[in-house]
Amino acid sequence: MTPDLRKLQSTICEFCSGTGWEPVEGRGVRPCRCRAVDRRDQILSAAQIPKRYENCTFENYKPKAAADEAGISQRIALHGSKDIVDRYPNVEVGLLFLGACGVGKTHLATAIINALALHKGISCLFYDFRDLLKEIQDSYNPVSQATELKVLEPVYDAEVLVLDELGASKPTDWVRDTMTQIINTRYNDRKLTIFTSNYLDEPQQPNEESLTDRVGVRLRSRLHEMCRVVLIKGDDYRLKLNQSRGRRS
Ligand SMILES: Nc1ncnc2c1ncn2[C@@H]1O[C@H](COP(=O)(O)OP(=O)(O)O)[C@@H](O)[C@H]1O
Ligand SMILES: [Mg+2]
Ligand SMILES: [Zn+2]
Repeated sequence: MTPDLRKLQSTICEFCSGTGWEPVEGRGVRPCRCRAVDRRDQILSAAQIPKRYENCTFENYKPKAAADEAGISQRIALHGSKDIVDRYPNVEVGLLFLGACGVGKTHLATAIINALALHKGISCLFYDFRDLLKEIQDSYNPVSQATELKVLEPVYDAEVLVLDELGASKPTDWVRDTMTQIINTRYNDRKLTIFTSNYLDEPQQPNEESLTDRVGVRLRSRLHEMCRVVLIKGDDYRLKLNQSRGRRS
């Protein structure tokens, strides 16, 4: 919770005096604006967006200015991300952000769920796919309090889910089966899922693995049905940040 929210809650609300109902002249009462802040905060914390990405927005995503391949792909990615938020819930397919490390895939994916949660009150969830698989695996441990169902319930329930780092886990049979089960369930429930992956459909180097190598042909084709591919090109933004910091100091 932000300091502002904490302050708001610790003082008696000037609009509803703490009742949760705000008087509206001539029209009785309506749910108070302080509760709307509360609910938004709940939705945001339920989304489990990692700290590093909780302030990611469309406004602070800066596509490369040049009109080269990288700049154009970044503007298309930003536009496609905003479009999902504008049109939601009238959105048929999710997005699959592909690109090298540091081009802003996770930034845009989290900006989408930040905006949906904040402006539209949509229940969203962020998961690094590796962490999700690990939590499921840990739940098989007999001393674990968690069960597979408990771990997966929020993943199935979230209206919009981000699965970050698709294909990053070593593709064993169990990993593929589990990924397929999760992705198919969301597909069958017609729920929107946004993926990111460092693995491309057409790798740049001959020795690099493709996304199909990592997730298998069947899952790759399912992803095609449920997502629009957004290929982001460019240099690692983190290196750029470090370089400009270096120049300043
Ligand atoms: N175009 C951009 N404008 C502003 N920040 C960016 C941009 N691209 C990346 N970043 C920032 O750089 C860091 C790395 O981006 P990230 O989204 O984690 O990359 P990826 O998921 O593609 O590896 C993050 O802190 C992110 O906010
Ligand atoms: Mg990322
Ligand atoms: Zn109030």
